[in-house]
Amino acid sequence: MHIADRISRLGTETAFAVAARAATHKAAGHEIFPFHLGDMNIPTPANVMDAACRAMHAGKTGYCPSPGIPELRDALALDVNAARGTSYTMENVAVQPGGKPVIGKFIMTCMNPGEEVLYPNPGYPIYESQIEYHGGIAVPYRYVRDESGFHIDLDYLESLITPRTRALIVNDLQNPLGAQCSADERERLAEIAMRHDLAVLLDEAYFDIRYGGKSVSLASIPGMAERTVILYTFSKKFAMTGWRLGAAIGPRAIIDVVAKLNVNDESCSNHFVQHAALEGLTGDQSGPRDILAALKERRDTAVELLNSMPGVDCPCPEATFYLFPEVTDLMARKGFDADYAAFAEDILVKTGVSLCTRLHFGRPLPDEKRRFVRLAYSGIDVAEIRTGLLALKSYASR
Ligand SMILES: Cc1ncc(COP(=O)(O)O)c(C=O)c1O
Repeated sequence: MHIADRISRLGTETAFAVAARAATHKAAGHEIFPFHLGDMNIPTPANVMDAACRAMHAGKTGYCPSPGIPELRDALALDVNAARGTSYTMENVAVQPGGKPVIGKFIMTCMNPGEEVLYPNPGYPIYESQIEYHGGIAVPYRYVRDESGFHIDLDYLESLITPRTRALIVNDLQNPLGAQCSADERERLAEIAMRHDLAVLLDEAYFDIRYGGKSVSLASIPGMAERTVILYTFSKKFAMTGWRLGAAIGPRAIIDVVAKLNVNDESCSNHFVQHAALEGLTGDQSGPRDILAALKERRDTAVELLNSMPGVDCPCPEATFYLFPEVTDLMARKGFDADYAAFAEDILVKTGVSLCTRLHFGRPLPDEKRRFVRLAYSGIDVAEIRTGLLALKSYASR
């Protein structure tokens, strides 16, 4: 049997392999502390669940329009406009079965085989996978770290642009770094995108997962909404990771194509889930507020403990539910140098803490000397955070 060549270019989310390793360790009778996956152990708000049940009983169980039910598309346009000052209408919205499908559909729409797309590294691994799967050239850009956290190396990014560069992927607020663009960075990114006529995929999966300050969108800058597709998801804000609902929001020229891809791929997103999501957007907002309060307590607990460990240095991001501490000294002291896999395995076996390393978020760049790991705190309670990180602290102190 013949398997198509392009399949060899398809990547994956290697964080799932970390989950499998943690599960084997647990099955062998060990306690584990799950800091590896960006899934959530917080329930979906009750009003959203009730709305799903009502919709099912009201017969919203058949197919519905491919770009989404009009009420939800309309509510999404209004919601996004309110937070971003944009002027989208429902015609700019194509509902999706999650935020993730927006990535592949954007690539298919905006990039021909052989063309180049810029993407963040460290970053969400599906960008590189989808670019290469569709025959493009994935060009990673990098971040630099200062006292205020991680920032895009904009000069480096611009130096990567060639006549074959078609698109730029920006993840603001960022997984795994917890980074957010400053106003200057956004202005410069917009200027680069416009000057080089790039289509922009703006992954705002974490736009509403913020504990202080206010999220500002690159799409708000004049001229950007015309060339930007926003990746929107219900997964994080409403703790709906398993419900699978999101949206692509952008210019008609792209969204009409995305809607046509919907017809070809999944016909439509789940009908009654769209009614539940509508309640999420327009109903009582105490659910998302409670989710944020729970996540903030976890963040504060984890950051304080991580920074109390010798050889560990962890910025405190205002947004997302990820921490990306530097562990260069600790790794060197434990004798692992650049061997991330052995380091993570040693931590798992000796402390039960299961985490991802920098390697799960793209190939390290050639001159990279500093070492990092990623901890997600969306799927682990405060008490477990404390016990797990105290075990890690005693490991780091030995
Ligand atoms: C940066 C980023 N984008 C997109 C997604 C996709 O999430 P979903 O498909 O659940 O909306 C994730 C999920 O972890 C993510 O971290």
